[in-house]
Amino acid sequence: SQNRLLIRHGQVVNEDGITEEDIYIEDGIIKQIGRNLIIPGGTRTIDARGKYILPGGIDPHTHFEFEFMGAKSVDDFYQGTKAAIAGGTTMIIDFAFPKPGESILDCYYNYRQKADDKVCCDYSLHMCLPQWSEQVKKEMEILCKEHGVNSFKMFMAYSFMLNDAELYSAFEQCQKLGAVAQVHAENGSIIAKNVEKLLANGVTGPEGHELSRPEDIEAEAVNRACVIAKQVDCPLYIVHVMSKQAAETVCQARARGTQVYGETLVAAIGSDGTHCSHANFHYSAGHILSPPLRSDRNTPLAIMNFLAHGQRVFGEVEASSIGMSGDPRDPKLVTSPPLRSNSDTSTQLLQLLSSDVLQLVGSDNCTFNKSQKELGKDNFTKIPNGVNGVEDRMSVVWEKGVHAGLIDPSRFVAITSTNAAKLFNLYPRKGYIGVGSDADIVIWNPSATRTISAKTHHQAVDFNIFEGMVCHGVPEYVIVNGRVIVDEGNLKAVQGYGKYIDCPVFPPYVYDPEKVTELKPEKNGTNDEGIQNIRELEKLHFE
Ligand code: URP
Ligand code: ZN
Ligand code: ZN
Ligand code: ZN
Repeated sequence: SQNRLLIRHGQVVNEDGITEEDIYIEDGIIKQIGRNLIIPGGTRTIDARGKYILPGGIDPHTHFEFEFMGAKSVDDFYQGTKAAIAGGTTMIIDFAFPKPGESILDCYYNYRQKADDKVCCDYSLHMCLPQWSEQVKKEMEILCKEHGVNSFKMFMAYSFMLNDAELYSAFEQCQKLGAVAQVHAENGSIIAKNVEKLLANGVTGPEGHELSRPEDIEAEAVNRACVIAKQVDCPLYIVHVMSKQAAETVCQARARGTQVYGETLVAAIGSDGTHCSHANFHYSAGHILSPPLRSDRNTPLAIMNFLAHGQRVFGEVEASSIGMSGDPRDPKLVTSPPLRSNSDTSTQLLQLLSSDVLQLVGSDNCTFNKSQKELGKDNFTKIPNGVNGVEDRMSVVWEKGVHAGLIDPSRFVAITSTNAAKLFNLYPRKGYIGVGSDADIVIWNPSATRTISAKTHHQAVDFNIFEGMVCHGVPEYVIVNGRVIVDEGNLKAVQGYGKYIDCPVFPPYVYDPEKVTELKPEKNGTNDEGIQNIRELEKLHFE
């Protein structure tokens, strides 16, 4: 029968360990796990001997069909989610971004409308706040209470950045709602001045990208965001931490008791340039993102040192920084934060992921074709920012992490799936193989290999920053809500089969000095009902 499935003899990998068990699935839900299960006749059986059975990947950071910098990202919700599944990812969280004049509520409806009929796997939405107003504040509450949006992204760079007072109000509202505040942390005003100077001096090529946004400009914004968040006791999630100075700042803020989480990018991890035809990939438009990949060779080591002082930083690393390669001067590689020119980044970020300094690997998939990247051929500021990664994230992390011996399979599951489910309050429905969880499952063959190429990938974009990389670890079966979508390597994605998943808000975070013995509180917790605050959730989830 279509709606029943038995997976036998595989190694079931959860974040807390590996067991050899059979899994019985019915109507999209895991119904039984164990040995010698009694199951109805006529159930399809897959033999997973010698393979790992993993919770489907969750990519917490995508931008599908995103109108940005005068271009529209080419992976839409169909091709993006289809590619995700091909690579072993069974859920994505996209950033809804309001058009000029569009309310965030309308933006939410419009994203639902464009995504619902296209998605091949489940998805949720973060909401971007490119401006601040009383109306935005009201609509955040509606999104949280009625539409399952529990995260909001604010920008400190780009023309639509918020000023400090606006950030303060937005964070305060997140705090009241029990939502996660996310920031793109770079000082946009300083970048604008640097850009002016660079262009006036004739620096118009992609190398201007990183020059205009050095590390301390990223770190300054991280610090400012942390300071503001602390004023209003709001948990803060820094998206794409791309430099040692920024990571150091996150670390110091945490040491002072700020509830801050940092995400770094896979692009920053994998940028060793060995797989790419671009001679100096950090200056290739195709590799450009913001903040940039850093040219500082010591960046990852420093990040690791600063983050390793007993601090837990919740960091998303993007698939592109793990395996990405190429020349950042190539306009095709322009993304923000930028990919950094550092050949040691990959290994060191993976070590950070391994030691639980960083918790997540995202893709920041925001793909523009070569011709779109050409928009910036005479002016680096016009290169649409963003790179691919949604399809290759799992394989690249497996290759650079597990196959290389830096990360074990359980940790792989944590950083590619479980931690995202926890941070956006979807655990254990997602990110876990257990009775009652959604049957989003990957049967992973660790001995098989595939070579990443734009010629064979399932994405719409016409190049791939991981071009030529040989990856061990192939998703032979990908089960999405109980249905076998990748079947012995053959992809049979079904448009519209995925659904929108509500992310419930957390109980509002309340600073509780009792729970933070090593820190002196600056003020007392104000709410006795501050049970189960984020710190407790964090303990539950990450200890
Ligand atoms: O350069 C990037 N990261 N492009 C996507 C937009 C963003 O800031 O995440
Ligand atoms: Zn961003
Ligand atoms: Zn390249
Ligand atoms: Zn992004």
